[in-house]
Amino acid sequence: MADPHSTLITGISELVTNDGERGGYAALTDAALVISGDGVAWTGPAARAPAADAVVDAGGRAVLPGFADSHAHLIFAGERSAEFAARMAGRPYRAGGILVTVEATRAAPDAVLRANLRRLAAEMLGQGTTTFECKSGYGLTVPDEARGLALAAEITPEVTYLGAHVVPPEFAADPAGYLDLVRGPMLAACAPHARWIDVFCEDGAFGGAEAAAVLAAGTAAGLGARVHANQLAPGPGVQVAAQAGAASADHCTFLTDADVDALACTPVVATLLPGAEFGCRQPFPDARRLLDAGATVALATDCNPGSSFTSSMPFCIALAVREMRMTTEEAVWAATAGGARALRRDDIGHLGVGARADLILLEAPSHAYLAYRPGVPLIAAVWQAGRLAAGSIP
Ligand code: NIG
Ligand code: FE
Repeated sequence: MADPHSTLITGISELVTNDGERGGYAALTDAALVISGDGVAWTGPAARAPAADAVVDAGGRAVLPGFADSHAHLIFAGERSAEFAARMAGRPYRAGGILVTVEATRAAPDAVLRANLRRLAAEMLGQGTTTFECKSGYGLTVPDEARGLALAAEITPEVTYLGAHVVPPEFAADPAGYLDLVRGPMLAACAPHARWIDVFCEDGAFGGAEAAAVLAAGTAAGLGARVHANQLAPGPGVQVAAQAGAASADHCTFLTDADVDALACTPVVATLLPGAEFGCRQPFPDARRLLDAGATVALATDCNPGSSFTSSMPFCIALAVREMRMTTEEAVWAATAGGARALRRDDIGHLGVGARADLILLEAPSHAYLAYRPGVPLIAAVWQAGRLAAGSIP
């Protein structure tokens, strides 16, 4: 078989590789990288770069791993801008707003859901996201949850069954009956399309024992566990995640010292979602407290029409640096390698030799510009599995 096509990207002012000790943040200056087929074949000083079939001159720009957005709710119809405006006028965020989207999603034909999903996925790619997770949770019937997950599975392997998002209105008088459905027939219909199971563990959604029961059923069906934990108030979510061996506890906005300990002492990734705090005008989670305790922190968008309607990882990085006491290096690591860990992937989130060639060419000389120039479109080009997938080479 012929050698796969190779591309040398040289003239890189800063190449973020994330291949430091134990996969920590690392970067090279005056660097080059070779893509061969769909993978990274070589990284090192530009002066020592090997020959390749094609050459791209980065012209003093930075190159980063593609972002891994490990938390998004993209299967929905409709929008809730009026609810956002009301929050900005002083109304608090309530989990019940989810039901507005449930009604619109149930009424939408597959073609509408598919088009919305693909539009958001393209929006993410253009902003440097090369891997994204996608949850159900706005169907809340067996056929609506299953069709949403089947649509998501068309475009990402990181599909999450979130039947336990809230109790839908037709089960308002029988929440235990809904839980039985979620753990029984709905799980059976959804598991073939999904890799993960998630539960919204919060007042107004599901309590600790209910959440644990949902995750136990999901893991018995072969799904990996993730949890919406401690988003709106302190609660049992993080402990439930730790006990279930979840890959990730997401939100982590209101944590006790025991929660921080649990995140530091287990492999559960603390996934922080600053878009939700922005969109709900809540206090931001304290990433510094988690990092100093030794927890692994990821950043993700939580893209959804209610609490956080952003698809932009650069926006989340800027918020994390400005508001959550993360350094620019920590925030970029959390948005790349951190997201990969939250998805239990070792082929993405870094640019070590053998990694999937998912990378971003920044219209800037260093990663710090993602926070230093907030709101500015800095993603010049994006390669996904070795192919130029968005933007163009300057
Ligand atoms: O992650 N917390 C639960 N689910 C979403 C919000 C969904 C919505 O408001 O529609 C979240 O913030
Ligand atoms: Fe969420």
